[in-house]
Amino acid sequence: MKTIILLSFTLFLSFTINAQDNETIRIPLIGETAPEFTGQSTQGPIHFPDDYYGHWKILFSHPADFTPVCSTEILELAEIQDDFSKLDTKLVVMSTDGLNSHIEWVRSLQGIRLYDRESVTIKFPLVSDPDLEISKKYGMLHPNYSTTRDVRGVFIIDPEDKICATFFYPATTGRNMEEIKRVLIALQTSAKRNVLTPANWQPGDDVLINSPESIEEAEKLAAKEDPDLYSLEWYLWFKKSK
Ligand code: BEZ
Repeated sequence: MKTIILLSFTLFLSFTINAQDNETIRIPLIGETAPEFTGQSTQGPIHFPDDYYGHWKILFSHPADFTPVCSTEILELAEIQDDFSKLDTKLVVMSTDGLNSHIEWVRSLQGIRLYDRESVTIKFPLVSDPDLEISKKYGMLHPNYSTTRDVRGVFIIDPEDKICATFFYPATTGRNMEEIKRVLIALQTSAKRNVLTPANWQPGDDVLINSPESIEEAEKLAAKEDPDLYSLEWYLWFKKSK
């Protein structure tokens, strides 16, 4: 009898823990406020996103320090970190590794000359999340991959701390840092100019405006003969960038 009670209690406990985990691991969605966290980093304690309010931010997660794909990602990010800085964007990297591991890995990476380029100084912080708190808040743990290592996550967050874009990549595939920069510039362009960016848009290309809501509205727009606008269909209007 005692054994049955103990077994039932254990099953109940394990169900509750799993249920709680399911509740707490959730990917924050576009338009939501970025979840807050405090963590130790290679540059001291970080309170995210509060420390960076008023700036654009990109939060990256990676599976593990001292691994090949992750190493190339950090080096490529460091290669263009000044571009992000000019775009008023703060970079924050995190994983479930310990702080000492991050410190040693950064030291090692700074000695590497990737593709024969000059070595780089890593100016952005690497945050340690050994208790998986941040990973759970940002849905970076995808249980069919791992319950302890993050996937490759990217969250682009605006100056008011709203999530604007999210990407997830598997451990096998390194991210394209130029693509992340391109999306950031597209988001900033939309925010500044109230425009949209077409497929395969690159900075400097023409942009789109919202479709007129009717053919009548489209006719009014056409009648304005704005030299900066041109249309390919009544619902497809471009705005010249140059
Ligand atoms: C890598 O970054 O190379 C890597 C990380 C985790 C699993 C497999 C590869």
